[in-house]
Amino acid sequence: MTGPLSTGPLSTGPLRTGPLSAGLSPGAAAPDGRHLLSVGDLGAEGIDEVMRLADTFVEVGRRPIPRVPALRGKTIVSTFFEDSTRTRLSFEAAAKRLSADVMTFTGSSSSLNKGESLRDTVLTIEAMGVDAFVVRHACAGVPAQVAHWLEEIGETRGPSVINAGDGAHEHPTQALLDCFTISREREQRFGSRAGRPLVLSGLRIAIVGDIRHSRVARSDVLAFSTLGASVTLVAPPTLLPPSLVGWPVEVSHDIDTVVAKSDVVYLLRLQNERMNEQFLPSVREYTATYGLTAQRARLLGPSALVMHPGPVRRGIEIAAEVVDSPASVITAQVANGVAVRMAVLYLLLGSGAPIGA
Ligand code: NCD
Repeated sequence: MTGPLSTGPLSTGPLRTGPLSAGLSPGAAAPDGRHLLSVGDLGAEGIDEVMRLADTFVEVGRRPIPRVPALRGKTIVSTFFEDSTRTRLSFEAAAKRLSADVMTFTGSSSSLNKGESLRDTVLTIEAMGVDAFVVRHACAGVPAQVAHWLEEIGETRGPSVINAGDGAHEHPTQALLDCFTISREREQRFGSRAGRPLVLSGLRIAIVGDIRHSRVARSDVLAFSTLGASVTLVAPPTLLPPSLVGWPVEVSHDIDTVVAKSDVVYLLRLQNERMNEQFLPSVREYTATYGLTAQRARLLGPSALVMHPGPVRRGIEIAAEVVDSPASVITAQVANGVAVRMAVLYLLLGSGAPIGA
């Protein structure tokens, strides 16, 4: 495996990392319906199917008892080898609202610290009888590797694997919840629900910040462009990927012009945990040049949305008052994340039980 995404030792294994590893070409990989490893596996129809179902699950979440029996008897294990607040809790809330049993594994307090290999850890958990692994790992390709190990066992229909973020590679459920949030917020605010199948066609979306280290950016570019949006990346040259060949994007270094003409401005955190060299002269200069400061936010159009996957570092990539401004849909992203993950779990594991009972 070559290319900018082959980070970390696991990327030399039998990776099935989807189209991003060969440059961006949405829809190039066929979904097998068992795992969700790349949002590129879904195509426009697949993304739309998740959105439709998520609409239903938003409604379930508003009930006095926000729970349906759809995944009763199924067991989902969240295996997080890297820090997470919202993604892990969101998946666990989604699984519980579908009446699945949830097991939680945290890498830092596991037998990995006693020298057990990742493969043995995965197969140990599998032996307990689980239906899905939700996997987050600091190395690109780990969810695909876990899927490969589980397929090697040879069961007709073994556990599913859902990529909850792997290194700087992909974060498919974040992209799905972002598409859902854009569509829903535009409908609620301006009555302009995207058509079916869901399209973001004609929308101008700017993704601003540390694109180079961002799995969210990779999955979002795939999903937004698959749905017809035009995406502009705004970042200092050092925080862009070494190659953008095949990415369906434009690049700009002029944030003021881009902010003024965008329908969505999507900010990214500086991901220091993945930086192995100095990429910026100073954080203060970054904020002045690329941050969505309060002053710069005045350039936003009246219908523009401001988004961020979290965790937000107020005052660095985005001013505190912009996070809390009416244009910001950051809290809606978190809320929608539960419904979208319910949809993903239901589609992968659904036993045919009705949703609404
Ligand atoms: C992102 C992640 O972990 O990739 N957060 C998230 O999952 N909501 C982005 C980040 O860490 O900056």
